[in-house]
Amino acid sequence: MDQNTKKQKAAEAVLDYITNGESLGIGSGSTVDILIENLSKVRNKIHKVVSSSIKSTKLLEANGFEVSELRDVGKLTKYIDGADEVNKDLQMIKGGGGALTREKILAHASEKFICIVDDSKKVDILGTFPLPIEVIPMSRSSVSLELIKHGGRPVLRENFISDNSNLILDIHNLQIMEPIKLERDINNIPGVVTNGIFALDHAHILLSANDDGVEVSELNA
Ligand code: A5P
Repeated sequence: MDQNTKKQKAAEAVLDYITNGESLGIGSGSTVDILIENLSKVRNKIHKVVSSSIKSTKLLEANGFEVSELRDVGKLTKYIDGADEVNKDLQMIKGGGGALTREKILAHASEKFICIVDDSKKVDILGTFPLPIEVIPMSRSSVSLELIKHGGRPVLRENFISDNSNLILDIHNLQIMEPIKLERDINNIPGVVTNGIFALDHAHILLSANDDGVEVSELNA
């Protein structure tokens, strides 16, 4: 089964988790795009929907959904998003599409985070996928120097401006042995808006599509 078919399977499987009256947060990326194209199947169960990126907003609207602002919805019942890497504790690297800041805001505002991936995203140790960090433009060099101290190799994402008008640094060569600690450490560097480690706001349920079907992993916390 190819990667796209697996993404389709994971995106379809999550529809069963959507129950009546949801205030739903919607992530970004190609797996979520497939979800949005299928979301009208459960339209009657969705009370409100909030989006994590301009791209997802446009796609939701094209599919007939009115997108609400987080401030008008408050708490989300569920947040559904993909990931670039996910480990057994359902901690993730996200931000390959550059939407990590709004994604983390929605993940934090949500009671339950359901992550949908194809099985190529599952890893033992986070960090093979370069860690995206959204930074205020004037801090790109100073933040880069701090990440070099952590053993990383920062690369400025070329020709990319985030939805929040910031830059993205992609940090190569990290082996993230303590995701929560590194997430906190990077958050403390002046100029960092958001880093792509989602360990403090990890997923609660992982739907991972493989050749045999969709594997479900669930954490109690
Ligand atoms: C977007 O900024 C990312 O966090 C995505 O969730 C991540 O890149 C997964 O994308 P795909 O579904 O395209 O693999």
